[in-house]
Amino acid sequence: MKVLGIETSCDETAAAVVEDGYRLLSNAVASSLNLHIAYGGVVPEIAARSHLEVILPTIDEALLAARCSWGDIDAIAVTAGPGLVGSLLIGALTASTLSAVKNKPLYAINHVEAHVYANFLTQSTQESYEFPPSPPRFPVLALIVSGGHTQLVLFMDHFNYRLLGQTTDDAVGEAFDKVAKMLGLPYPGGPSIALAANKGNPDYVKLPKAQMSSPYDFSFSGLKTAALRTSQQMAGKDFTLPSSALPKLLSDSQKADIAASFQKVAVEALVDALALADKEFNPESVVIAGGVAANQQLRDEATKRLGKNIFYPDIKLCTDNAAMVAVNGYFQMTLKKPPTDPFSLDVEPGLTM
Ligand code: KG4
Ligand code: ZN
Repeated sequence: MKVLGIETSCDETAAAVVEDGYRLLSNAVASSLNLHIAYGGVVPEIAARSHLEVILPTIDEALLAARCSWGDIDAIAVTAGPGLVGSLLIGALTASTLSAVKNKPLYAINHVEAHVYANFLTQSTQESYEFPPSPPRFPVLALIVSGGHTQLVLFMDHFNYRLLGQTTDDAVGEAFDKVAKMLGLPYPGGPSIALAANKGNPDYVKLPKAQMSSPYDFSFSGLKTAALRTSQQMAGKDFTLPSSALPKLLSDSQKADIAASFQKVAVEALVDALALADKEFNPESVVIAGGVAANQQLRDEATKRLGKNIFYPDIKLCTDNAAMVAVNGYFQMTLKKPPTDPFSLDVEPGLTM
C-alpha cells in the first residue's frame, strides 16, 4: 500500500511516498527558508507563493525518487492544519485536485499528530536515514515540540489519545527562535542556539524554570524574558536597551553562555514533564517529535533521565516533511477511516489535537 504525502503548512513544500506505513520510498522537501532569512522569520505571503511555484515539481520529484507512477499510488494524504492559511490552501487544493483527477482516496491530516508518526518509519530504500529497529508500541507517550507546538500527549492507540498538557504561551521552538534573534544568531534559531551552546557554559547563569499549576503544562515566555534581562546586564545596560542592540554589544563567548544557559533550562522543563508522565502512565514507548526533537541535548537528557530507550525521528524527519503525513494517512486508511471528499476538503489553520 503506497501513500503519497503532501505537506505545506509553513515554509517547507514537501512530498513523500511511504509504503505500508513504515518504508520510506522518497522524501522530497523544498524549503523557502532562504527567502525568509532577511526577515528573521517566515513571511506568510512569500511562503504561499513559493509553495505554488514548487509544489508540482516537488510531487514529481517524490514520485520519481520512489520509482512510482500514479498507478502505483493507493491514496493521497495532505496536511489540513494547523498552519498558515495561505500555505495550507496550496497543499490542500493541489491534493484535492490530484485526488479527483487521478481517482485516489484523500485523507486530511493533522500536522501535529503527523509529527509523532515520523517515529513509525523503520526502513528506507533511500540511504542516509537512521531508523529504530521496530516502531513504537502503544500506549505511546509523546512529547511534541516544534516552532508552533509544545504538547505532551498519551496515545492509547492510533487516533485515540489524550492531551496531558501543553504550553500556555510560547512554543519551545519559538522561544529558541526568539532568543537566537535577540543574540543575533542566524535563523532558524533552534540549530543556531544548539551550535552556540556547544561552546558555552550551561551553568553561567541560572535562568528560571516556570512553575506550572499542572505539572504537564509548559511556559517559555518568562525564560525568554529572563534571557533578555541577563543579556542586557552582560552588555552593561539596563532593561530599556532594545534587544536589537544586543548582538553588537555581546561577545561570541557571552552569546554562547546565554545560549547554553537558556537551552539547559528549556530542555530541563521539557524532560521534567516527560519523566513525570512516564512514571505516572508507564507507557510501552516514549517518543519525541517535531523540529525541536532534532536537539541533541533534549535527546540525551530524555534518554538519561527516563533511563530507557526513547524514540526520535532521523534528524531529516524531525522538521516538517511529508513522510510523516503519508504514514498518518496510511493508518487512517488501514483503520478504515472514511476518506475526505476532495470537493469539500477544508483547511483548518487553528486545528488542535
Ligand atoms: O516542526 P518544525 O519544522 O515546524 C513546526 O511545525 O513548527 O519545527 C521548527 C522548529 C523551529 O522553531 C526550529 O528553531 C526548531 O524547530 N528546531 C530546533 C532544532 N532544529 C530545529 N530547536 C532546537 N534545537 C534544534 N537542533
Ligand atoms: Zn511541524
